[in-house]
Formats: sequence, structure tokens, C-alpha cells
Amino acid sequence: MITPSDRYTHGHHESVLRSHTWRTAENSAGFLLPYLRHGHSVLDVGCGPGTITIDIARRVAPGDVTGIDRSLEVIELARRGATDSGVANLSFEVGDVYALDFADSTFDVVYAHQVLQHLSDPIRALREMRRVLVSGGLVAVRDADYGKFAWAPRASVRERWLELYHEITRRNGAEADAGRYLAEWVRSAGFEQLTYATSIWRFHTAEERAWWGGLWAERVLKSEFARQGLEFGLTTAAELQEISGTFVTMAEDPDAEFVVEHGEVLAHRVLGPENDEGDVSGSAGGEVGIEDEPDELAERIDH
Ligand SMILES: C[S@@+](CC[C@H](N)C(=O)[O-])C[C@H]1O[C@@H](n2cnc3c(N)ncnc32)[C@H](O)[C@@H]1O
Repeated sequence: MITPSDRYTHGHHESVLRSHTWRTAENSAGFLLPYLRHGHSVLDVGCGPGTITIDIARRVAPGDVTGIDRSLEVIELARRGATDSGVANLSFEVGDVYALDFADSTFDVVYAHQVLQHLSDPIRALREMRRVLVSGGLVAVRDADYGKFAWAPRASVRERWLELYHEITRRNGAEADAGRYLAEWVRSAGFEQLTYATSIWRFHTAEERAWWGGLWAERVLKSEFARQGLEFGLTTAAELQEISGTFVTMAEDPDAEFVVEHGEVLAHRVLGPENDEGDVSGSAGGEVGIEDEPDELAERIDH
């Protein structure tokens, strides 16, 4: 079966990786952490440079953790990071979420952070993630919702940046507002016992503004975002310069803030007589509210 060859909007320029390598299990997988147990096997799909993956591996040791990403360049970076970290219970492989190179029912937990928003067929990707989960296994997905980003002070040029971002991702067949659609996608892929929440990253202190504003000031000029915007005829070099300037201004303004809202979903693969492999219609187990205890959910993973 032919898998989609989606075009990734950000690419892996250093200014993009500066953002991805800042990520930790705490700031990017907090909703999953209460459910992880020593001995769990975990797959991190679209792991990028792997900083979150390494953190997860520390938490589930001696369980095996695997990070996969379509980009060899970023997988090589992740492997170097793993070696430097001294964490041994993990490996990084090149792989495609649409065609995972693992047998059915391999992992206790499958996690994907900021990945589904870049795919033209996120439900198909989620079905493939479901296939490699054990019965009772947990999927954990988190994606930004660009349409819900907020900032102060008002800046019309930054509004234009957001519009341009939506235009470019739309050309790539991707959904920049993925956060708000995660529950629907996860349910459509056949998962059950779903919990949905939102969480934010907020950049406000001088250090945070300098970091976030600085990296975006560079991304809009040097990353794939810039290349694609120009290639698609959606922007000009002069406009990108102007957008870059608005992020420099943010870094310098002590009253400025930038808020990135995310959607995050946890759900189970439930296998049973009324919900076997072929049936992805869902609903046999009913929903589990977010008030459910982590122990209770973690123990549903059948070993
Ligand atoms: C925004 S980055 C997120 C990286 C990491 N999860 C993090 O949060 O730091 C998205 C990653 O998904 C990868 N990716 C895109 N399409 C993919 C696919 N079809 N299969 C596997 N990885 C993919 C990209 O190469 C990129 O490294």
C-alpha cells in the first residue's frame, strides 16, 4: 500500500532544532508521565532529536524505548544524544508512522508529540500506531493548536505570520490547528477510553522571550518554512524580514508574552470479542474521564 509522502513544514534547520532540543518529558509529556511504569515498552513516533525520548527511557527503565523519525539527519542527532546521556534502554531508528516496522502488539505505550499536525492523514497514522500497541496499551498524543496561539502586545505582522503558517501547512495537506481535532482523530482510529485536556507553553521572562523570539526570528528566514513560503509564492523575502523583526521586538519587550496552546489525548487500544482487529468503530469500553487514577489506567495494559 502506498503511504503518503508528506512534506514537513519546519525541516531541521538549527533554529528549529533549538526549539525541539529544549523539550523534556516534563514540558512536553506531562500528561503521560503519571501513567508510565518501570518495564513499559514505549514507542516515540516522530521523535525528532529525541530529548523527550531519552527522558521517557529514564522513567521506564529497564523497559525498552524506541524513537523513530522519517529523517535520518535527526535520527543521527538523537543517537548522539542517547550516547551522551548514558541511557542504555533505548534506540533510534529511521521509520515512517504510516508503515511502522514492528509486529502487531509490540508496545505498551505509543507517544507522538507535535507530529500529527504535520500529516495529511493523521487518522491513518493513528491506526498504524494502534496496530503496534498491546491490548490495553496506551496512546498519548499532543499537538499545538496554532489557531489558539495568543500573544501580547497586539502585532499585525505576527497575525500575518500566523496566516502564512496556516497557508503553508494547508498547501502541505496538514492541519496546523491539530490540537482541537485530536480527540476526534483518536476516536476515529478505533481507540477507546479517551481523555482530552489542554496545556500551554508560556514564554514571558526575559530569558524565555529572548529564546522563543530569537529562534522564530531566525526560523522565518532560514528554515523550510521560509523556503516553502517563497516556493509556493505565498510570501516575499521582504515580508519574511518584517515578520522576523516582530519576533526580535517580542524578545526586547519586557511586557510581551507568547502562549502556545496544545491539545493532548490519552486513549486505550481495547481488544475483545466485540472489538477485534477489524473493528475500529470504538465505544465498547465507554469513556474514562480525566479524573481516573493513573494506576487504574496503567494497569489496564495486558501483559
Ligand atoms: C515538530 S517535530 C517533533 C519532534 C519531537 N516529537 C519533539 O516534539 O521534539 C515533527 C517530527 O515528525 C517527523 N515526521 C514527519 N512525518 C513523519 C512520518 N511520516 N513518519 C515519522 N516521522 C515523521 C519529522 O521528521 C519531525 O522530526
